[in-house]
Amino acid sequence: MENASITGGVAARLLAWYDRHARVLPWRAARGERPEPYHVWLSEVMLQQTTTAAVAPYFREFLARWPSVQDLAVAPQEEVLAAWAGLGYYARARNLHRCAQVVSAEHGGRFPGSEAELRKLPGIGAYTSAAIAAIAFDEPAAPLDGNIERVIARLFAVEEPLPGAKETLRARMAELVPEDRPGDFAQAMMDLGATVCVPVKPKCMLCPLAEGCRARELGIAGTLPVKAAKKAKPTRRAVAFWVARDDGTILLRRRPQTGLLGGMVEVPTTGWTEAPWEPEAARPHAPMQAEWQALPGLVRHTFTHFHFEITVWAARVPGETEAPGALWTPFDRLGDAGLPTVMRKIAEHAVKKGG
Ligand code: ADE
Repeated sequence: MENASITGGVAARLLAWYDRHARVLPWRAARGERPEPYHVWLSEVMLQQTTTAAVAPYFREFLARWPSVQDLAVAPQEEVLAAWAGLGYYARARNLHRCAQVVSAEHGGRFPGSEAELRKLPGIGAYTSAAIAAIAFDEPAAPLDGNIERVIARLFAVEEPLPGAKETLRARMAELVPEDRPGDFAQAMMDLGATVCVPVKPKCMLCPLAEGCRARELGIAGTLPVKAAKKAKPTRRAVAFWVARDDGTILLRRRPQTGLLGGMVEVPTTGWTEAPWEPEAARPHAPMQAEWQALPGLVRHTFTHFHFEITVWAARVPGETEAPGALWTPFDRLGDAGLPTVMRKIAEHAVKKGG
């Protein structure tokens, strides 16, 4: 009963707002046109844990290089990973590539249209399957991303902390999904969360759902959703070995397929440990014997579960030097080498500090 007073008219008001205020985003179909499932899938995978602003140039580049899911399926994995470099969460890129191969080989290059079938594909979880089903196929699915969680938590004044509240929020969202235009409804929720129902200082005076928003009535909109305290992140440390060969190339390697940054190109490092590295302990991990120079300062990077601090050692070696697994990369091609962000930071540090 209580919720019925909130749900009434929400979809109609939100869709009317969306018709006037929808953001223009490169993966969105023009009004009245059916979105291309390949575009919807690609954008939704890229948008997991990444902002629309960061994703847009990657989305355009992927489509320019691989216009169809079949094109992406036959691309070499190294090229897909290199094109993904900088977006983070590299398991997503490996799963994206595998998913393209499965859709191409087992589904004739067409994405299945139901949430349940989509969910079986590599890299497609609860959020992505619901988002694709709604946006690409207009199925009445209820995707729940961070923006939608915030809108729903406020609309119903859900004070239970996340992530525990997820299922409650999903159920509330599902009750709101209209039969007509569920894809636009999902995107409208995302846009409302991104532009109006923003964290900390929501712009309630611009909100089409302000009337009937329980958190606004209670004066607690800015405090929702409540998030359970996160565990402090530990710090891991490593030494990175920057080897400049006299022929103008730099030593890079490819990381193993499994584990963090799996399959990505790297600057060789010691193990990544909580204890700092003493020079004598680090030296045997170097890719070769050389006159190492420890560069001043530290490179810092934060991953999902830990902070990372890297000391860089640099060496110059003769032009014919070899090392196992070496990808000797011309210095002026490092920008195209597909380095993930932490490795790009190491390269920039080495250059700045004269390595
Ligand atoms: N965030 C995730 N998916 C999105 C979409 N389709 N539109 C806008 N923001 C999004």
